[in-house]
Amino acid sequence: MSTNSQSTGARLSGKTAIVTGAARGQGASHAGRLAAEGARVLACDVLDDLGEAEAAGLRKAGLDVTYLHLDVISPGGWARAVAVARDRFGRLDVLVNNAGIIHVNPLLDERVEDWNATLAVNTTGPLLGIQAAVPLMRESGGGSIVNVSSVFGIVGAVGYVAYCASKAALVALTKTAALELAADGIRVNAICPGGVSTPMNEHEKEGGIVPQTPMGRRAHVREISGTVAYLASDDSSFTTGTEMVIDGGFLAH
Ligand SMILES: NC(=O)c1ccc[n+]([C@@H]2O[C@H](COP(=O)([O-])OP(=O)(O)OC[C@H]3O[C@@H](n4cnc5c(N)ncnc54)[C@H](O)[C@@H]3O)[C@@H](O)[C@H]2O)c1
Repeated sequence: MSTNSQSTGARLSGKTAIVTGAARGQGASHAGRLAAEGARVLACDVLDDLGEAEAAGLRKAGLDVTYLHLDVISPGGWARAVAVARDRFGRLDVLVNNAGIIHVNPLLDERVEDWNATLAVNTTGPLLGIQAAVPLMRESGGGSIVNVSSVFGIVGAVGYVAYCASKAALVALTKTAALELAADGIRVNAICPGGVSTPMNEHEKEGGIVPQTPMGRRAHVREISGTVAYLASDDSSFTTGTEMVIDGGFLAH
């Protein structure tokens, strides 16, 4: 369980949130942090046993977190998730599009199936999420959408062609969505983490990008969740269409 209750404030009191990819890693931490800030959270994933256990642990810690099965590439799944938010909370204020997948292939060996699968989860998933969430957000008087991109959405990385393309597209999607939704009071931002210690990279060879990271380590998940909570909250009320880099200095070279 990611008891990630660093904040003592309640910046998200009265707000509701959907977090995808929330069974483990950063998403679990974001769900816990948003709940610790006062939000009621629907934590969504396809790893149902893990997700249920994580949410149960957070509830035991006094947080309002409910697990829900959601495959982000399923429009029907998104419709169900938003319907649950409507039925249970009557509103939706925050969407964190965090679910993501990665694989490694040299450029010339990249298989179209792998490419398509990566773009489906990392880019199309957030698009479907935004399309499903916006009507209820509008009814709720506005909202904040946080798309989890990566430093690899800004620079290239050898062997990660699909991942880089999917995360760069997500930054472009974020900016377009921010333009189209500003009039509705819906802010849309991306975050671009550098290396973060999660199951996604636990088997990565040679410490991944740690050697190129001035701070010489990966982030702890809670070091990313603070930025997500900031972007979700009214503390960032004039921030939209931007990408916030959280990378221990990786891109400062
Ligand atoms: N770990 C890093 O170094 C790093 C760096 C930058 C960005 N990111 C991004 O952060 C996000 C979170 O990744 P993480 O590091 O916590 O990795 P992770 O693998 O631990 O978590 C990803 C979660 O997404 C879920 N998921 C995958 N496909 C899904 C689908 N179709 N529908 C719903 N859920 C699905 C997984 O089950 C998992 O729980 C991802 O978007 C990832 O690309 C990770």
